[in-house]
Amino acid sequence: MSYRNISKEALVGSLVVGVVFVAGYVLGKKKPFRMSISKSHVGGKDSPLMQYVLNHSLREHPVLKSLRLRTMQDSWNFMMVACEQSQFMANLAKLIKAKKVLEIGVYTGYNTLNMALSLPEDGVVVACDISEEYTNIGKPFWKEAGVEHKIDLRIQPALQTLDELLSSGQAETFDFVFIDADKVNYDNYYEKSLLLLRKGGIIAIDNVLWSGRVLNPSPNDADTVAIDKLNKKLHRDIRVTLSMLTVGDGLTLAIKL
Ligand SMILES: C[S@@+](CC[C@H](N)C(=O)[O-])C[C@H]1O[C@@H](n2cnc3c(N)ncnc32)[C@H](O)[C@@H]1O
Ligand SMILES: *[C@@H]1O[C@H](CO)[C@@H](O)[C@H](O)[C@H]1NC(C)=O
Repeated sequence: MSYRNISKEALVGSLVVGVVFVAGYVLGKKKPFRMSISKSHVGGKDSPLMQYVLNHSLREHPVLKSLRLRTMQDSWNFMMVACEQSQFMANLAKLIKAKKVLEIGVYTGYNTLNMALSLPEDGVVVACDISEEYTNIGKPFWKEAGVEHKIDLRIQPALQTLDELLSSGQAETFDFVFIDADKVNYDNYYEKSLLLLRKGGIIAIDNVLWSGRVLNPSPNDADTVAIDKLNKKLHRDIRVTLSMLTVGDGLTLAIKL
């Protein structure tokens, strides 16, 4: 589309949005590890606008809140999903009446718990991580919330778990997948998740903007290269419909056709 086809007002509007976005991004970048509530580029938890968003939309189950506060005491807390993003994904799962959810990269299980709380009694979250140290932080909270029985935690490399699910005949049975583990395996996770997903199911992929590094991927930064490569592949992938959202650190939703 050429600029001539866009009205002056729209152009000024998008310039303002652009400037606000860039300003928010630069401000947000200064303190990457202080964003304990949200990693969003609206400006991090200290930004008044982000506070407004959270103040007017977050409905956090009391045990989820306790788990978030406990997670903030861990030195890897920046790995935790943004809570408004997690709430959004839990709402999506409810919307499509999900019963089977796959989480690739659990950490302390904030999102795993959110999903388990959203699923019906016979629902299940297959939760994949390699670290008992992290997942042990979450377990008591899963129990306290009374949804421990809906969480099937598998401690081993996620690719192995995905292969086991496929070979045990669970292809096309999952409703929702959240990919949030090691970035170099993202494409493998995506391909195997697509096999495990039913038609109309959703794959949500986290960190697709990688704090803005995707704009200029350095060839020796394997994580950024992997994310950028998958982003480009997904844009052309006719097996799914697509949205790339600027929530958190960037979230792609791919819906299986
Ligand atoms: C960004 S954190 C996940 C955050 C989590 N989704 C949440 O809601 O807070 C990434 C996790 O992936 C795990 N991980 C890294 N490599 C993995 C692998 N090969 N298989 C499974 N999990 C892995 C790490 O141990 C870490 O807990
Ligand atoms: C958000 O809520 C906190 C706590 O109630 C309050 O101190 C703050 O002023 C609110 N900020 C906005 C922008 O709504």
